[in-house]
Amino acid sequence: MKENISLKAYNTFGIDARAKFFFELKKREELSSLAHFNSFHDKSLILGGGSNILLCKDFDGLVILNSLKGIELIKEDENEVYLKVAAGEVWHDLVSYTIARSWGGLENLSLIPGRVGASPMQNIGAYGVELKDVFYELEAWDKETEQVVVFNKEQCQFAYRESIFKKELRGKHIILSISLVLSKKPKINIEYGAIAETLKLMKVENPTIKDVSDAVIAIRSSKLPNPKEIGNAGSFFKNPVVDLKLVKELQGKYPSLPVYTVDEKCAKLPAAWLIEQAGWKGKSFGNYGVHKNQALVLVNYGGAKGEDIKNLAHSIQADVFSKFGIEISPEVNFI
Ligand code: FAD
Ligand code: EPU
Repeated sequence: MKENISLKAYNTFGIDARAKFFFELKKREELSSLAHFNSFHDKSLILGGGSNILLCKDFDGLVILNSLKGIELIKEDENEVYLKVAAGEVWHDLVSYTIARSWGGLENLSLIPGRVGASPMQNIGAYGVELKDVFYELEAWDKETEQVVVFNKEQCQFAYRESIFKKELRGKHIILSISLVLSKKPKINIEYGAIAETLKLMKVENPTIKDVSDAVIAIRSSKLPNPKEIGNAGSFFKNPVVDLKLVKELQGKYPSLPVYTVDEKCAKLPAAWLIEQAGWKGKSFGNYGVHKNQALVLVNYGGAKGEDIKNLAHSIQADVFSKFGIEISPEVNFI
């Protein structure tokens, strides 16, 4: 147990907030004794790579860094493999591990920062695939009963950047492992965005999952700032899902508005477009601001306070609402 430590190295925004207590969890068995520690029940935060949090102030409780390791092949047949992966594994290392074995399913989710345990929290997604597409079940430690419980896919209530762990069960469980079903006969999914175009530029005709992963990595590296260079947490807001009536009205005013149909009633709009049109793209306020190439990414150029970024986010939300009548909600977890 460490005391009064800086969390700067433990969040990709690079916010220098402090934790009263800090414990690195390496074995499941340590949880039972950790549960006797007062702060465990009063105020504790389980952390992975810190790539989807904004530390708004010092954390006056216990931060538990999830470093549980291990990848286990549970079962396999001629078509599929079932993998159980400990929550502290690094997400992209898992993706690389599966690609090296030609097990398909995770390639479109290449290079998402963070650890495996946080992936169900918001049902991570990118380039036309979400965690739920390969998810089987997870094990979690119920902080109240101090028991291991299993959640199947339905119980996780996955939706776009949502799960039960972000809503009614927020803060109640520590995810210990996830189990995934991957394919030994991968179906290539290159429908989304610029993947097909990028593969063409790479002169790839019959892409393998490794090619798809390489293309996704190339696109992501060209679009998103590297947190090692500029503090950020990826998309700060979710893309709003809005009524088609409002979409039609907006299209009348803004013919260039990009629209992604969801169903016969709703469509998803890129929050980045709304924020850019509202004039925020590239705006800087000293040591923090809105990224110059991706308006959905708020950045810390070094030394910013979480509170500054939170206030900036609120100003952007209010402005987008007053200009377009659309509420954009944060994807990032405010701590
Ligand atoms: P953390 O930030 O450590 O935690 C996030 C939340 O989950 C916190 O509330 C935390 O308490 C909780 N949590 C963490 N671990 C556990 C656990 N074991 N049990 C219970 N709760 C837990 N996300 C996408 O979906 N798609 C993207 O394409 C994407 N791109 C990104 C690009 C960049 C450059 C960055 C910086 C972020 C991006 N993200 C993306 C967001 C982020 O990487 C993901 O949400 C990731 O899953 C967060 O993992 P983490 O380990 O860093 O979580
Ligand atoms: N756009 C702008 N201005 C910008 C940037 C983008 O107008 O500054 C418009 C463009 O029209 C573009 C559209 O927004 O076509 C969408 O942009 P992009 O393809 O970059 O995707 P995004 O909607 O910003 C989403 C996810 C990302 C994920 C990518 C790829 C959300 C909130 N974000 O970004 O996830 O990697 O698609 O699938 O859904 C994350 O969650 O942290 C994240 C990075």
